[in-house]
Order: sequence, then structure tokens, then C-alpha cells
Amino acid sequence: IARPAGPKRFSKGVVMAAAVAGVAVKEVATTPYDGQKTGTSGLRKKTRDFMKPNYLANWVQSLFNALGSEVAGETLGLGGDGRYFGVEAAQIIIKLAAGNGFAKVVVGRDALMATPAMSAVIRRRKLYGGLIMSASHNPGGPDNDFGIKFNYKAGEPAPEKITDKIYAETQTISGLRVADIPDVDLSKVGTTRFGSFEVEVVDPVADYLATLKEVFDFPALRAFVSRPDFTMTFDSMHAITGPYAKAIFEGELGAAAGTVVNGVPLPDFGGGHPDPNLTYAHDLVETMWAADAPALGAASDGDGDRNMVLGARHFVSPSDSVAMIAANAADCIPYFKGGLKGVARSMPTGAALDRVAAKLKVPFFETPTGWKFFGNLMDAGKCSICGEESFGTGADHIREKDGIFAVLCWLSILAHKNKGVPAGGKLVTVADVASEFWSEYGRNFFSRYDYEECDSAAAGRMVDHVRSVIAASPPGTKFGAFTLAAADDFAYTDPIDGSVAKGQGLRFVFDDGSRIIFRLSGTGSSGATIRLYIEQYTDDKARLQEDAQVALKDIINVALELSKLKEFTGREKPTVIT
Ligand code: G6P
Ligand code: ZN
Repeated sequence: IARPAGPKRFSKGVVMAAAVAGVAVKEVATTPYDGQKTGTSGLRKKTRDFMKPNYLANWVQSLFNALGSEVAGETLGLGGDGRYFGVEAAQIIIKLAAGNGFAKVVVGRDALMATPAMSAVIRRRKLYGGLIMSASHNPGGPDNDFGIKFNYKAGEPAPEKITDKIYAETQTISGLRVADIPDVDLSKVGTTRFGSFEVEVVDPVADYLATLKEVFDFPALRAFVSRPDFTMTFDSMHAITGPYAKAIFEGELGAAAGTVVNGVPLPDFGGGHPDPNLTYAHDLVETMWAADAPALGAASDGDGDRNMVLGARHFVSPSDSVAMIAANAADCIPYFKGGLKGVARSMPTGAALDRVAAKLKVPFFETPTGWKFFGNLMDAGKCSICGEESFGTGADHIREKDGIFAVLCWLSILAHKNKGVPAGGKLVTVADVASEFWSEYGRNFFSRYDYEECDSAAAGRMVDHVRSVIAASPPGTKFGAFTLAAADDFAYTDPIDGSVAKGQGLRFVFDDGSRIIFRLSGTGSSGATIRLYIEQYTDDKARLQEDAQVALKDIINVALELSKLKEFTGREKPTVIT
């Protein structure tokens, strides 16, 4: 195997001088694996791939190689969403961290740590960065997915300049620097020392909770949640938010025992698909459509960054959720009391937030899909609240989207609006908050159709076809009853660092503001997933309560026709409708 030259390389089989005092380090020979391409959300593969000899270690060593000498003497965060192989993976990573010169690893008990919690831990403890063992909302277990991602100093997902380097390193890797230390007991909080290297096992909830307490008025929320006429349910989908939701909703806020359902993280998420949407969180949807539904229902995904919020028989679309939170934030949430610095949404996200920004007279940004695009805006003090249609909502208290944060925002709005309502009076509901918002701003009907696991070549042909439609359609072209204002392939120039992201989604914008967008998913693990996003605005008071699927019927048909989606993919229906 070709061995690239460089100061970090050394001969095979030689016991190295300690990377940290008192720890012997061995070089273990290895050979590259194909396809360890690191995307925005790290490396996601089948669990059985990750269990192959050195598969995980190769990627982690490649990351450390990419980071170079800056890791020496630093502290690394570590934890994951509780999925199968997480504890074994943590032991491998701890030995590599010690072998590569880290002075300390801070790891969540039982190797647990939600993604937003890791972001909070990195920020609060001023860590060098953190590794999160998760494949987000993908199913877990030996026959499903595992994943690993790296978050950097500000708690943000690793920027492309790092992920590109990692991939290059994975293609030439030849040696692993493994500390000769035993496995660490991760089940107990406390510090274990090996020479001058330390492993601190921490409560995975504590730092995150401390951060949330700086954002929200916990005593006010507790007073509201413990009203006998208020009930809520939170479905952790057997994923990481179980311990967090129990500690926060049932513990801190005094919600009744049993408010958190499916609250024990299981290595295979109980066989479920931990993605909080109307299809995969169907148990929650049933609860919330029952006659005796609680006032608030919510769910979170595998690693705790996504959220879905429901009222009794009412779905809050994520595009509306971020807009409604932004509109109410200054009145209802202490952290935003001074007003918002700015707001941002991803391009396919419904445009209700744009109207809120205009009303509040704060800067507004439209970014490509992917949380990483919000980080620069936040670091530059230009964005307080942001969100995506893909069930992501967040703020600049951390640098990840944050499922429990979104639920606490909704609780704060409800608590505030119900301040004057006496016990036994009629509580302001989630649906009331939505109606009030729509009467003020009008309603951006939004829907997303997902066609999962399509044949990749067929999906590619459809995209090419849509490109050709764009090329042949000048402004003014009629599509059914809609007149085209502009069509393009979305590109974004980051206003802070000037970097350009191209090819971010094919969009048709019509002269009434309606939009049709096509994008291929960047997170699937097999085949291609086509996403079709549809949006149409109305300020007609008589139509505000219409069902989105009814309101959008015509424009959806236009989208299906212009793309010839059914012909190209052979799919009559989407797999998921949001
Ligand atoms: C991840 C990212 C989100 C992004 C989503 C898009 O969840 O963290 O920021 O919106 O992927 O997924 P897609 O499958 O549409 O590429
Ligand atoms: Zn996630």
C-alpha cells in the first residue's frame, strides 16, 4: 500500500512514544475501504459495514488525520442516539482519541448524546469538537443503519473543508493510532484516568438542560404544564429523546408520568422508523386525532434534532411552525425578548417566515437545504431563529436543529396566550394560534411528496427532463392556470464567506408566488428519493382552514405533469406525504 509521506505517519508495528503522557500507542496497519464519503451528516452506512474490521476506525483516524496537529491536548465530545453498535463504537473511538493526542474525551453515559445536546456540550465546555454516533432518522439495528458525524468548535456540523479532507484520507489510510488502554465503564458518571489521558462520563442531559434554561422561562412553563386542564404527549419513538423528554417534561415541568411515550432508547428503535412525520409517527397521529386528544403532541427523531408538533386534530407544518415561533418569540420566550437578529429558512421551506421577517423588519435569508448553511449567519449575529420543511427548527442558542427546543417554543406560546384563562375556562389551542397567524399573514399552503427508493437512473432522467422544461420555459409560460415568473436551479452565495453552493433544487416560481420545487434527497441510503415541494399562498379568509391537499390539488397536478414523474419512475403515489 502506498504510504503518503507526512509527519503523522510512522512505521508499522512500532510501539510509539506516548501521544499523551503515560499512554502507550500502537500503530495498527489497515487498508482503505471504498465509499467512505462523508456527507453533511457524516458517514451513514449499513451497521454491518460499520462492524467490519477497522471500518469505523479508518474513518475516525481519517478525520483525525484531516484535523492534523490541532487536536493535540484537546477535549473531544462523544455520544450517540443509542442505536445498535454505539457502545462498541465509543470504545474504539476513545482509544483512537487517546492515540491521536487528545487529552480528554467527554462521553455521555451509556454512550448516549442527542445531536442538539452535543452542540450544547461543545459550546458550554468549549470543546474542540464532538463525534455523534447516529444515522439520524434512519432505522437502526444490525440489519439497518449506523452513522457517525463530527461537529466542530462552535457546535456546528463539520464544514465541507473538513469533510472533503476526511474522504481523501479514507482513500489512502494505512495505519491507525490506537492507545493501549482497556475499555472504559460508560455506565457510570465519573472520570477515569490513563496516564494524563482522561475519560469523563457525563449525564447526557445536564448541559443541554442548562442551555435550555437560559432560553426559556422554566417556572412559567411548569405553572402552565401542571394546569389540570392542560395535557400533552411526547413520542420519543424509542430513540434518544426518551431520557431528555422525561427529565424535561415530566421532571422539570411536572407533566404527568406517562406524558413521554416510547421513552426508552432501544438499539433498533423498537423496529420503528424514528422519523417524526405523519407517516412514521402514526401512533402519535392516532392519539392526536382521537376525541380525547391531548392539547399538544410532539415527536422527535432518532438523534433528537427533528420535531413534529401537533395540536388536537391539528398538524403544524414545519414551514408554518418556524414562522409562528418567530412571530411570537419576542413576547413568549425570554431568550428572544430583545427581538430577533434575523431569520432564515431553506429554499424549499414554505414562505410564511418571509412575511414574518417583513412585519418584524428583520433580515431574512433563504439558504439551500441543510442545517450547515445557518451556522455562518448565526456566528455573524444575523440569525436568531431558523427552520426547514424537513421537520427542523432551531435557534442560535446552539448550532444544530433542536426537537425539544421547538416543543418548548410551542409550550411557551401556549403558556403566554393562556395566562389570563382561568381554570376551567377555554384554553387557547395550537389550532387557535395557527388561525390567528393565518388571519394576520395569510396562509402558505405547503406539501411535500416523497418518492423513496426510486431507481437512481430513472430519477436522474426525470431531473434532466425537468431541467429541459426550465430551459424551454421563459417567464410568462403557462402551466395550467399558473403563469411562470421564473424557473431556475437554486444557487446560494453565502453572505458571510462568499462561498457558492450550486444545484440546490429545481424551482418554478409563479406570478402569484406559488412554487413547485424538485430535489433529490441527500440523505437516503439506497436508491434515489425524489422530493416534490409545493406551495401556494392565499389571503382569502374563507379558505384559511382548508385541507392543504385539497387547496394544492391543481398545482400538484401541474407538477406531476410537467415533470412526467409517474412515467419516469413508475410510481403512482408518493411513499410519504407531508
Ligand atoms: C438532514 C439535515 C437537514 C436537511 C435534511 C435534508 O436532516 O440535517 O438540515 O434538511 O437532511 O434531507 P434530504 O433527504 O431532503 O436531503
Ligand atoms: Zn436527526
